[in-house]
Amino acid sequence: MRTHCLGLVLGAEDDWPRAFEALTSRLGEFEWRGERHVLDVNRVTYEPFDLRYKPRYALVLDRVGWWYLLPREWLKKVALMDDVYLLNNPFTFQAMEKHSAYCAMMRLGLKVPETWLIPHKQPPWNERFPTTAARYNQAFDLAEVGERVGFPLFLKPFDGGQWRGVVRAKNAEELRRRYDESGEQLMHVQAAIHGFDVFARSLSIGAETMVMFFDPDKPIHDRYQVRHNFLNAEQGDEVVTISKVVNAFFRWEFNSCESLIRGDDVCPIDYANASPDVALTSLHYYFPWAMCALVRWCAFCVAQGRRMRIDVDSRPWFEIGDREDLSYEEKLREYRRLADEHFDADAYAEFRAGPMAHVDEYAHEWFTSDDFDRVLVETVRATFPAHEHEQFVAHYRGLLRSWADDAATSRSPAP
Ligand SMILES: Nc1ncnc2c1ncn2[C@@H]1O[C@H](COP(=O)(O)OP(=O)(O)O)[C@@H](O)[C@H]1O
Ligand SMILES: [Mg+2]
Repeated sequence: MRTHCLGLVLGAEDDWPRAFEALTSRLGEFEWRGERHVLDVNRVTYEPFDLRYKPRYALVLDRVGWWYLLPREWLKKVALMDDVYLLNNPFTFQAMEKHSAYCAMMRLGLKVPETWLIPHKQPPWNERFPTTAARYNQAFDLAEVGERVGFPLFLKPFDGGQWRGVVRAKNAEELRRRYDESGEQLMHVQAAIHGFDVFARSLSIGAETMVMFFDPDKPIHDRYQVRHNFLNAEQGDEVVTISKVVNAFFRWEFNSCESLIRGDDVCPIDYANASPDVALTSLHYYFPWAMCALVRWCAFCVAQGRRMRIDVDSRPWFEIGDREDLSYEEKLREYRRLADEHFDADAYAEFRAGPMAHVDEYAHEWFTSDDFDRVLVETVRATFPAHEHEQFVAHYRGLLRSWADDAATSRSPAP
């Protein structure tokens, strides 16, 4: 029997870790390719550490390394020295933030909207900077950049996240005002996908991807909407392929991808999220799927002995992307092949149908239990003001009940 120690690197959240712990403990022992395995889940805590110490973890799920240096540098140590498997790669997330992710996917030919990078309004202070700027920074006409990108447009930080500093400008005057407000942030100017038909947000966990209907104008509890068949088969497949391509290219395994669909075009606008939102209060109906996928993918990585790759191998992707004889659709097919290979899609399908076949049953049992109801109530209390508790407890109970009914009749969405 092989015991695999899984570490959770957490912040203030308590909803999904409790779900993950409950489901892995119900999973118990499982068999894969002639060996028995069991997962031992622990929350990671910090203390001073010797860089040469040996951690006990086989795999770590990180949620805060993007923001906090101590866990991030601990993650780098355990990945570099001890072959601990990380679902997301702190090295590439640091180096390949939104801007680099746009560049790489533009080179692959994805329909990222027209995007420019513009100099800081307020450059970082450094006593040599005024001389450097006087010598090398060209004066520029912001209105002209706006015209070339096209209005309406979005002004957003090059390394964005959580809608911080994202603003819309409909004309040159508004662009100038918004730029003045951007202060020390380095900004992109990006053409708005105006009048899109669908905003699809896909959450990928390893080889699984769930595409959800998203409404950014709604309050947070209502952004993910429970809708089925909101894309036709080709569009759905294209959104899934784009998500898998992004993740396989950067070797990220826990990430969300936002795509705007307008007519026949699928335009990815945001797809470098080191800590994708998996809060119960955001995902509601889709939360059980996300938890099951996390359990399945983590179990697969350790049982299969999957090795984490720290580097990004852009070459095979660019070789396809640079070919002039291939259409967009042909390139996507080639990328999908690389992505499926990267995620070991066939072995994972076998693993899911074999030793993981009962995860959905355990999930149904747990998500309809009093134990889960306590998590739901406590999460609502921690998220919303007191006068809204009653309303939102009822709201989320209803959504989870509808998931349970759909799952019982196998109507819950298949990734
Ligand atoms: N090019 C665009 N076209 C239309 N809407 C956009 C565009 N860029 C951003 N948005 C809107 O702004 C929101 C935040 O921008 P996004 O790039 O996702 O930043 P963040 O990384 O902070 O989430 C998006 O969810 C979307 O609603
Ligand atoms: Mg976003």
